[in-house]
Amino acid sequence: MNNCAKKAAWRFLLPVLVSLWVSCGATNSSATNSVPNLGRGLNILDEDQIWGDPTKERFEYDYYRMIKERGFQSVRINMHPFSRMDNANRLGPEWVATLDSVVKNATQAGLKVILDLHDYRPCGQDAVTCRTKVLAFWDQIAPRYRDAPETVLFEILNEPDRQLTSERWNKLLAETLQVIRRSNPSRTVVIGPAKSNSFKFLDELVLPEKDRNILVTIHYYSPLLFTHQGANWTTPSLEGKLGVEWGSPANYAELDDDFDVIAQWSKNNDRPILLGEFGALEGGAMKFRQSWVSAVARAAEARHFSWTYWQFQGNFAVFDLSRQKWVDQILSALIPRRAS
Ligand code: GLC
Repeated sequence: MNNCAKKAAWRFLLPVLVSLWVSCGATNSSATNSVPNLGRGLNILDEDQIWGDPTKERFEYDYYRMIKERGFQSVRINMHPFSRMDNANRLGPEWVATLDSVVKNATQAGLKVILDLHDYRPCGQDAVTCRTKVLAFWDQIAPRYRDAPETVLFEILNEPDRQLTSERWNKLLAETLQVIRRSNPSRTVVIGPAKSNSFKFLDELVLPEKDRNILVTIHYYSPLLFTHQGANWTTPSLEGKLGVEWGSPANYAELDDDFDVIAQWSKNNDRPILLGEFGALEGGAMKFRQSWVSAVARAAEARHFSWTYWQFQGNFAVFDLSRQKWVDQILSALIPRRAS
């Protein structure tokens, strides 16, 4: 081959080699990120007025610092964006700016962050509209946070239930993951089973086998008669049904068995676990709530699950916003005080 022919061959081959190298490299890098350990955390900002009117912000920067100082490492931000979308399912600039500032404050305070799409109620009522809105939401939010630190995680949807059967949910989660992966090839995405993220339905959860940047989440409120005593939103309603105790040896054994089932699933499927919600409502007596919260948190930690308690403010609260005080019994159940 003369020089001229060699040059021509290289001119043709070089772009092919470069594109092969780039595409192989991209495939490898998308599979290699590790799922961050979220440690101990709190759910925050569910239905908070900050979302409607940022000037009414009660959740000052100091709260994030205070959460961190008390020993928590992460926050799960509960977002209800559907009602803030226009007819074309576009999010308003104010809502997005509020989210930006929440994420900035939390990360600056040194907290890991889960962006949790918490519109599970409308999703359970109408799976078709839900699909459109979930996809539209992540199509806007995922690219916006493409350069965020890897300690910012996306949770596709909280507690899929009712119309979002396992079959529909498995389809929707796969579609949404594709949308997210276009801009965030290796960000950790949090996904749980249908039927309200109950661990009992982990076997119905279908995840893309090759995608290892997934943190599997479950919620634990068992036994419901204890954790939700007095609640009017359960079916059947537990309004007025108070006085349920917790803490017998049988109660502890049941808790341990449940967590063993979750740990076994995690091992069999090689997927890390986040206990994304657990809590016991104010209707129960504090000493039993304290025992339950502590037992659940320790059961998770013993099996290397990270957890985010439901919730910082509101009901089940570990912080009393009106009195600006931690609820000490719940806080010490979550983060045991070191012996002095
Ligand atoms: C769900 C709901 C929340 C409720 C909690 C316990 O995540 O979003 O409103 O308080 O579970 O029932």
